[in-house]
Amino acid sequence: MPHKRINRRSFIRTSAGAGVTLAARSFLLEAPNLAAAGRPVPPSDTLRFGMIGIGMEGSGVLATCVRLPGVECVAACDLYDGRHTLANEIISKATGKTVPTTRRYQDLLDNKEIDCVVAAVPDHWHKQVIVDACNAGKDVYCEKPMTHKPEEGFEIIDAAAKNDRIVQIGSQRRSSIGFAKAKELIDQGVIGTVDYAENRLGRNSPCGAWVYPPPPDLSPANLDWETWLGDAPRVPFNPVRFARWRAYRDYGEGLPGDLYVHALTGIHYVMGVDAPAMRAYTSGGLFRWKDGRDFPDLQNTFYEYPNFRAGILMTLSTHEPEVTRFLGTRGMISVYGEGDTVIVEPQDGQDHEPCGYTSSFPEKLKDAYDKDWHEKHDPKLGESKLIEAESYVYPPGYSEFREHLWNFFQSVRTRQPSVEGPDFGNNASLGCHLSNVSYFHRSIAVWDASSRKIVAS
Ligand SMILES: NC(=O)c1ccc[n+]([C@@H]2O[C@H](COP(=O)([O-])OP(=O)(O)OC[C@H]3O[C@@H](n4cnc5c(N)ncnc54)[C@H](O)[C@@H]3O)[C@@H](O)[C@H]2O)c1
Repeated sequence: MPHKRINRRSFIRTSAGAGVTLAARSFLLEAPNLAAAGRPVPPSDTLRFGMIGIGMEGSGVLATCVRLPGVECVAACDLYDGRHTLANEIISKATGKTVPTTRRYQDLLDNKEIDCVVAAVPDHWHKQVIVDACNAGKDVYCEKPMTHKPEEGFEIIDAAAKNDRIVQIGSQRRSSIGFAKAKELIDQGVIGTVDYAENRLGRNSPCGAWVYPPPPDLSPANLDWETWLGDAPRVPFNPVRFARWRAYRDYGEGLPGDLYVHALTGIHYVMGVDAPAMRAYTSGGLFRWKDGRDFPDLQNTFYEYPNFRAGILMTLSTHEPEVTRFLGTRGMISVYGEGDTVIVEPQDGQDHEPCGYTSSFPEKLKDAYDKDWHEKHDPKLGESKLIEAESYVYPPGYSEFREHLWNFFQSVRTRQPSVEGPDFGNNASLGCHLSNVSYFHRSIAVWDASSRKIVAS
């Protein structure tokens, strides 16, 4: 991964900082696709996509896609009519045009003008939208987490394979230059053998805890509530469930589906994980946001993978800047979610003075031991090696989210596999489900690869 050296002053100019202390040796990472993404694309190569779901995330996805060269939105779909208006506000701001809108995503799948679809619908709709898109011959980008239920993953994998479709899941960390750098350094052995990876993240605000305000005009007249429910149990029209679906098991997966999935994506990518975690144990609780939600607001999970262990700790009661850490026998790499920085702190793994255990020796023995130790281990003049930390900073204007969307359209164009195909998406999603199965069963959750099921032991 290319990078160039920078000084502290330019770091302050190039990065938000977010409380991350930069190492003395700092480098600016290069974004591989930024230049390519700025290049004009001939009209014959333009990809036409349909947008499904234009809510909090879909509005940003749409605004980003319509600014990518060679990519055009030709239709938009949402079950809530207010978001038809929003879609055209976004599209016309970027292109001066408007597009037809519909409540039925099937209309987009039937439209021969459309090459692919981009979906940002709530999680309980992901599987159906992806499978229907593949069966209709459309490539599909669908937001994370790939699945709402563990059993949905293999249906998606089969639909993509059977129809030979590009499926990309929207966990943008899979396209992140920061995580790519961490992977490169770990693969080179810079921090030795990595036994443990961890992610910590905390939020402390109503918005951070998904207490979203429903659109004030929302009603059964402008929202197809029955379809919104999908295969979830029938409940009367409920604007709170519409806006805060993450907090209910019928539609979302709580902290794992919303946020763990990003942590797991980063960890799986860097550590080269190509199967679900073997086991997970979760503890947590609902301490603060007792508003009728189904999920805890503190969740802590330990995962077992064949060659390493991982821990994720998330809370909705205290703000803590997100960090993903890889702990190795020769140091530690931290990827900061705020501040866009990767810090590498090497360690030599050696004693630098006689072991404190010698304080249990009688004085004469201790003195002799210490003298011998110093003779053998003290660095000779000119021999001592300084172990320096290094920082890698993201370039100004870089967005892994934009990079990830760009990668999807490149896959559609080139027919090369997507950076985050359904196998990868499934492994990350299963990690989310393992966490929740363990939490709700108060037991260890085990991935049984032969039956492709999660078993609560
Ligand atoms: N990658 C990220 O960083 C990131 C961030 C936030 C959300 N997300 C993901 O994006 C997805 C959407 O989240 P959100 O916060 O935007 O939700 P949202 O509720 O704000 O928006 C979802 C929209 O989808 C529409 N919709 C629901 N079912 C539909 C259907 N069958 N057909 C057409 N439209 C339908 C809804 O009417 C709504 O407008 C989720 O999967 C979420 O996990 C990803």
